[in-house]
Amino acid sequence: MDIKALLSKMTVEEKLAQMSQFNSNCLDKDSDGGVTGPARSLSLTEADIAATGSTLNFKGADEMIRMQDEHMKQDRLGIPLLFMMDVIHGFRTIYPIPLGVGASFDPDLMKRLSEMAAKEAAVGGVQVTFSPMVDLVRDARWGRCMESTGEDKYLNGLMAKAAVEGYQGDYSSKYNIAACVKHFAAYGAAESGRDYNSVDMSEYSLYNDYLPAYKVATDAGVDMLMTSFNLINGVPSSGNEWLLREVLRDRWGFGGIIISDYNAFREMKSHGFCADDYECARAAFKAGTDIEMMSNCYIKFGKRLLEEGIITEAQIDESVLRILALKDKLGMFDNPYRAASAEEEKALFLCPEHRALAREGAEKSAVLLKNEGVLPLSESVDRVAVIGPFADVGMIGFWSCHGKESEAVSAYRGMCDALGEERVSYAKGCDTASNAKSDEALLREAVELASRSSAVVLCLGEERNMSGESNSRADIGLSDAQKTLVREIARVNKNCVSVLYCGRPLALADIIDDMPACAVMWQPGTEGGSALANLLLGRCDFTARLPMSFPYTVGQAPIYYNRTRTGRPAHDEHAIGKMYSSHYLDCPNGPLFPFGYGLSYTAFETSAPEVSKDSMNADGSLTVCATVTNKGARDSAALVQLYIRDVVASRVRPVKELKGFERVELKAGESKVVSFEITSDMLSFKDSSDNDVLEAGEFHAFVGLSSDEKRAASFRLV
Ligand code: GLC
Repeated sequence: MDIKALLSKMTVEEKLAQMSQFNSNCLDKDSDGGVTGPARSLSLTEADIAATGSTLNFKGADEMIRMQDEHMKQDRLGIPLLFMMDVIHGFRTIYPIPLGVGASFDPDLMKRLSEMAAKEAAVGGVQVTFSPMVDLVRDARWGRCMESTGEDKYLNGLMAKAAVEGYQGDYSSKYNIAACVKHFAAYGAAESGRDYNSVDMSEYSLYNDYLPAYKVATDAGVDMLMTSFNLINGVPSSGNEWLLREVLRDRWGFGGIIISDYNAFREMKSHGFCADDYECARAAFKAGTDIEMMSNCYIKFGKRLLEEGIITEAQIDESVLRILALKDKLGMFDNPYRAASAEEEKALFLCPEHRALAREGAEKSAVLLKNEGVLPLSESVDRVAVIGPFADVGMIGFWSCHGKESEAVSAYRGMCDALGEERVSYAKGCDTASNAKSDEALLREAVELASRSSAVVLCLGEERNMSGESNSRADIGLSDAQKTLVREIARVNKNCVSVLYCGRPLALADIIDDMPACAVMWQPGTEGGSALANLLLGRCDFTARLPMSFPYTVGQAPIYYNRTRTGRPAHDEHAIGKMYSSHYLDCPNGPLFPFGYGLSYTAFETSAPEVSKDSMNADGSLTVCATVTNKGARDSAALVQLYIRDVVASRVRPVKELKGFERVELKAGESKVVSFEITSDMLSFKDSSDNDVLEAGEFHAFVGLSSDEKRAASFRLV
């Protein structure tokens, strides 16, 4: 399609409509939408709707085809609608929430899962997914931890690149869809962990911690980027010229589409940055946001801004060309329906291959936190009680697109499928609500069942809507009713594993001692129960590691491993500090379970690291290695992690930063040497002007099994 020729035929009104996106119910005359429905609040005209560029949130292939048919009859120049959706961890076959996939430390897994999601979404009529979300998170109170891959920029970057490649491929297949990295920027740093709250931080922190993963995604060729709801240093992202023009466009060279978050333009009034919709349009235009999601400032005021000379038609044309170019790249002008197919939906959704991949994702995302002789359960175990408010529900989590809980394998169902119903029993134990009080009858029934069972699988955690967008929590512990259930069952049966279904790290300090074993399944998706059965029965091992620190208590939030040392460091991060050191009177500084931590069914050990030489120069390299040994009686895989510390620098650097990891398969008793090459790009950091800084001096290299590793080898950059 000659999109420049097409652009030349468009009126200004049509261009502004192309830069606007509305929910399907605003455009779909068959729903209560259209100009009489939700669109009325947007004062959209028939002409606006006829020329709208894109839509979001619709039911699937049939609706997409019907809407596109309708649209193509109305759009004067035959420009097809672009259909977008939040395909975050699966479309209909749901895999673990991104925080869980982050725990896998397996970018290839993320890529394969994203490919599967793209395929199901494409036949469901989607051409763009609002994913990956790469917001760095350090505060478990924030509900959207579940959507991130965690607290580390290096891991988040690897996962972002894998997701973009998985979704977009090379667009040679109709199953490839465009990705949209979000939320730009630093949305995960919302003050107090409260969603939509303000973000205020130094550019030093932005450049070193919060922006890198977005840049990995833009360098990986992501075709769209979404601005965040939050302020950044006093300016809302959607109207932030420094962020969008200076950093994203000019410095990073991002040529894709910038889309706002939902109604984020008009929220600039609530922020107190714009007085009215006219000013919202002006601010967003000047910052360079190309598509306005679910508000009509561009449609209402774009022409006036042109007439006033505040913007130029050339600027509008830049945005419209980006949108037309993506539609062309997706082949929409040749086939406005692209891959939408109700028949293929039936063939692909929940097919055995997709369920198998979702199961693999759940197995590789689960983290074993504690195991005092409980796991693995014997295959001959005869009476297993699956108890708890999440024993038969709670698998698919927030942002689960068209996934259905009813199609998910629950923990109870998974254990029944694995062992036979005659060997498995169920009791609810208590309700799921965060403030649920113990129900005496439910509790008594559960304890009685546990007392006559040979093993107990206790399923606890958070309801689906206790994390995700807008769902931040000031208390991230288990409910009282659930803690009572843990303690009462522990009294009658020590052969009990607590399984946590959650969208964030939970504060477990007050209950972990009552749990003989504990594993985190996150929200594992459609095959969560079958994955759990395979893990608990030892048919596969726990290989995932924490992508986010689990605090002792919410009072430690935000807490993360790559902290700075302070002028008065505590002597031990896992003990109460001494007077006049940086410490709490009532809690250690460090987390209960650190970033990178996780157990397996065997024990691994690493030797102290050694470097191949004492120094290197800027264009040189050296190798750091350590021997990892499987000390147990079972083959498994260790995740060996490389962290580096810049000991003295012109800007204080973290006590350590993840710079590499390798999964090492080891037979029982086997040892292997793991080595990492260190190059100077791993030693530099950003100054406050976003310049790379590389400074000579001493560095420490840690090679271990979590961020808690203390042993390091020193070397110098000369
Ligand atoms: C929501 C979310 C964003 C999502 C968008 C469209 O408010 O913040 O992540 O992509 O709206 O659903």
